[in-house]
Amino acid sequence: MKKDKTKLRSEEWFGREDKMGFVHRSWLRNQGHPDHMFRGRPVIGICNTWSDLTPCNAHLRDFAEIVKRGVYEAGGFPLEFPVMSLGETIMKPTTMLFRNLVSMDAEESIRANPLDGIVLLTGCDKTTPSTLMGACSVNLPTIIVPGGPMLNGKWRGRDVGSGTLVWQLADAMKEGTVTREELLEAESCMSRSAGHCMTMGTASSMASTVEALGLTLPGASAIPAVDARKKVMAHLAGNRIVEMVKEGLTLSKILTREAFENAIMVNSAIGGSTNVMIHLTAIAGRIGVELNIDDFDRIGSHMPLLANLQPAGQYLMEDFYYAGGLPVAINELKGHIHNDAITVNGKTIGENCKDAPCYDRDVIRPIDSPLKEEAGIVVLKGNLCENGAVIKPSATDGKLLQHTGRAVVFESIEDYHERIDSPDLDIDETCVMVLKGVGPVGYPGMPEVGNMGLPEKLIRKGVKDMVRISDGRMSGTAYGTVVLHVSPESAIGGALALVQDGDRIELDVKNKKLTLHVPEEELAERKKRWAPPAPAATRGYVHLYINHVEQADRGCDLGFLKGGSGEEVSREPH
Ligand code: FES
Repeated sequence: MKKDKTKLRSEEWFGREDKMGFVHRSWLRNQGHPDHMFRGRPVIGICNTWSDLTPCNAHLRDFAEIVKRGVYEAGGFPLEFPVMSLGETIMKPTTMLFRNLVSMDAEESIRANPLDGIVLLTGCDKTTPSTLMGACSVNLPTIIVPGGPMLNGKWRGRDVGSGTLVWQLADAMKEGTVTREELLEAESCMSRSAGHCMTMGTASSMASTVEALGLTLPGASAIPAVDARKKVMAHLAGNRIVEMVKEGLTLSKILTREAFENAIMVNSAIGGSTNVMIHLTAIAGRIGVELNIDDFDRIGSHMPLLANLQPAGQYLMEDFYYAGGLPVAINELKGHIHNDAITVNGKTIGENCKDAPCYDRDVIRPIDSPLKEEAGIVVLKGNLCENGAVIKPSATDGKLLQHTGRAVVFESIEDYHERIDSPDLDIDETCVMVLKGVGPVGYPGMPEVGNMGLPEKLIRKGVKDMVRISDGRMSGTAYGTVVLHVSPESAIGGALALVQDGDRIELDVKNKKLTLHVPEEELAERKKRWAPPAPAATRGYVHLYINHVEQADRGCDLGFLKGGSGEEVSREPH
């Protein structure tokens, strides 16, 4: 049906006087809604990623009811619908494999139904980019309600961060300095309220990113999930989406090139996750904004680190909120960002964050006294990563950022697990650990295994960090001198596939280089002998995925999903 721009989109379903109008209305009335509730009012779809299988989003069923209150109050009519939910801590082999599947679910659910505006309820890592990618391909007025972080973990008198504590305890287990009882106790002390990881991991980074893009109400991302002010924010988002529909404030009016540049700068200044690069590139691809891996380096790598948050710093998201939250950091960046970028509340990001008060300068530093002068993610190039690789210097102690070492190669993650703690493994702290087969096609799905743990024998010697290189990702809560997202990946014949034990590899972050010191002729010989691994699947979604997924530098979307198909549906069901 062709949309009449003077009418609500939902009127194409509910406003008709023919047989189909009867059908569309009649079945909805079985829920007890009188027809004046949904005729002529903005119909708001609440896209819910709630699931018991996604602990980070388990509170979102309640949040949907609060959003509905706000929608009703503003004169709209809310209809909640589920999409597949991605629980980072539970799903195998990795949620990243299914991000694009959820995006398809969200896109088709939105387009196929009588919706005028959308509220995305998100939380755990992939639930934000996946639903937003889908929404972008339809381009209705859309607002995001981030589910919020957990309260600070508290263990034995100290604050502990989700994820970051896990990596610390994993090393302590290898050192033999933590008991089983202590581990069990730490489990419940770390995750003690509803919400997502409360470090500046991927969930908090993505929530901050969508706030910086202008897609949440100001200050929404840092509010803890269990704080009553989060519920107020959800209610207000319900109010606001109704107005956005009336104003025709669609996603493409907010998601401009300037908005993406703002998000890159903000993610750098808060020490955000490397995963944001992949997700932001994919989101930009859906809304038609050209964004590439070099943009992140050019725009973000020189940003100062302002947020003193784990894993790059000391504090946690609860502290960040009490210190003033993201508007403070954005206000500090006002000399860099595009202040006139419009946001969901109809005001510019500059207006929203102007003079945002900071209540703790140790948590959010002023721009003239940052935690680190240059905090952004650095894009590396070289013969080992023709299309790029990334490293997050702010999550390292800086000692290995210029380093040449002997490669110790693991052909797969299983190979790594089998040999890493063997006393016979020929490795010392100067070596460079190389992991193959964990890219988008190879694993498949590009899991967060790039921050592979160090060999037990070296940990016991007191070694804390080594250079690690892979075509995988790492959790946003992780740290160390870890080179990620090597592109092209090993499974499609990238140079990483050709690395052998004993090769010299040079990491030169200052000059943004990653070099495999093997003569070109030798690499050409190795390439001739190389054969691709057997495909990871021959049927189903995974088959579709491995045949269409793009490489990390392009955002790992399925090639055919790029762009959008708009909001129109041309055929009737009956
Ligand atoms: Fe869900 Fe970290 S596991 S946000």
